Amino acid sequence: MKRICLILAALTLLLLSSCGQEGALMSSATESTISSSAAEPTPEASKIFENESQLESKEEMEEKPVDMPAPENFVLISGGEFQMGSPDTEAWRGTDETRHTVTVSGFYMSTCELTQAEYQAVMGENPSSFAGDNLPVENFSWLDAVNYCNARSEQEGRTPAYIIDGENVTWNRAANGYRLPTEAEWEYACRAGTETPFYMENSPSADDANYYGHYPYQIEENYFSQGNLTVQPGEYRGETLPVGSFEPNPFGLYDMHGNVSEWVWDFYSAYSTEPQTDPTGPETGTLRVYRGGGWNDFGKNLRSAYRATLAQDKSSFNLGLRLVLNAGAGTGSAVTSAAGKQAESGGKVLIAYFSWSGNTRGIADEIQSQTGADIFEITPVTPYSSDYNTVLDEAQRDQNQQARPELANHVEDMAQYDTILLGYPNWWASIPMPVATFLEEYDFTGKTIVPFCSHGGGRFGQSLTAIAKLAPDAVIGEGLSVHYSGGAGMPDDVAAWLNTNSID
Ligand SMILES: Cc1cc2nc3c(=O)[nH]c(=O)nc-3n(C[C@H](O)[C@H](O)[C@H](O)COP(=O)(O)O)c2cc1C
Repeated sequence: MKRICLILAALTLLLLSSCGQEGALMSSATESTISSSAAEPTPEASKIFENESQLESKEEMEEKPVDMPAPENFVLISGGEFQMGSPDTEAWRGTDETRHTVTVSGFYMSTCELTQAEYQAVMGENPSSFAGDNLPVENFSWLDAVNYCNARSEQEGRTPAYIIDGENVTWNRAANGYRLPTEAEWEYACRAGTETPFYMENSPSADDANYYGHYPYQIEENYFSQGNLTVQPGEYRGETLPVGSFEPNPFGLYDMHGNVSEWVWDFYSAYSTEPQTDPTGPETGTLRVYRGGGWNDFGKNLRSAYRATLAQDKSSFNLGLRLVLNAGAGTGSAVTSAAGKQAESGGKVLIAYFSWSGNTRGIADEIQSQTGADIFEITPVTPYSSDYNTVLDEAQRDQNQQARPELANHVEDMAQYDTILLGYPNWWASIPMPVATFLEEYDFTGKTIVPFCSHGGGRFGQSLTAIAKLAPDAVIGEGLSVHYSGGAGMPDDVAAWLNTNSID
């Protein structure tokens, strides 16, 4: 009897202390936010469900270290309600940024992006393209990110947040281990109470954030009238900077705009228009979301509401991670599985390309001579001006309006092709809009799209996100970015790239 009383007293203390510290800051996750899989849970996942049903028992609660402190460089983000997405009036907003009310519970978030030293210490390797202990780690996939979270949790005696079964990952929301923020948590933390395009009053200059500083917010429509810009073009550093190099946002978080983008938990899908509490995104999908923009992004793609996407097994030198910890005991699980996109590169190949000044055409012709594949030029009915300054204006106008220029020609029998090598110039950090028309015209289910992009220094920009959003049912192969025409080394680069994608 005495023992039971002691256990009950200890439990009461435990509950009081966790309520005192965190209870007021978070509302517990509601049942409606818990995703469950229609499919049978994996054996590991079943174990978690069993544990949950036993969480009421005193023994389980005594064992669960809910009060493990967050590391010093984490701040408590108090929960609250906010408007997620962007207002219709926001310049350069995407149609997938539908504004809706979201309530998030409190959580701890790392003030800085995860560094290479932190990654190396846990994983014993460093995948980054730029080397430096205090630089953000980049160039690792979403699957690598959840693996890192679990490995670090284990190292520090926390319960791993994820059950990883190949491509399928279940998030045990009760676990106290390191995890990715949800998309809603990320935007809530970035906005820090603001409803403007960026958390700062104006848009970031190159002195406020590390990004493609030549192209600040709204440069596109003011390229020839830069006096109208509130923020002038600044330095493009072309690389990552040590984390925390600029002023933090009002919540004390550094580099929420720029340096590297950050993986979040959610699969990409359309937002609900209904109010949500602690949303965790859909159970299945083909693309994970990443947020915040990086050193290689234009100002418009650093916006608090901008949603970038990539397959969960792909990586980018522009993309890293920021860690999160629960601030209180979460409940339930979010089960996710990658939707089966079973295409393999190869099969019958079509080279489809758009080119304005001939560089992409040159690369397409080289690919054709190496593969003998069919070739198709994407041609708008109304051609763009041949004058450089005029086409700059026409292209930004089309992109701003998300125009779909009518095409003069069509692929006769798209069904016969398994792989589409899709070529285009980087236009304003994305694809030219005739390529968007092309992507919307055909069903790419079961096909592989392998992008090749000619650019003037911006590599792919956000063109891979644009392609993935327009052809969500295609597998996106390893892309090739070529500086202008690619010079003398282009044929070898093409050969190596075809080889990577198993195309003869
Ligand atoms: C309208 C327009 C917009 C452009 N925007 C970008 C850009 O955002 N980033 C970049 O690196 N290059 C940009 N460029 C440069 C082109 O990507 C580059 O010149 C490319 O090699 C052109 O390919 P093409 O000859 O097949 O048209 C732009 C060029 C034009 C005409």
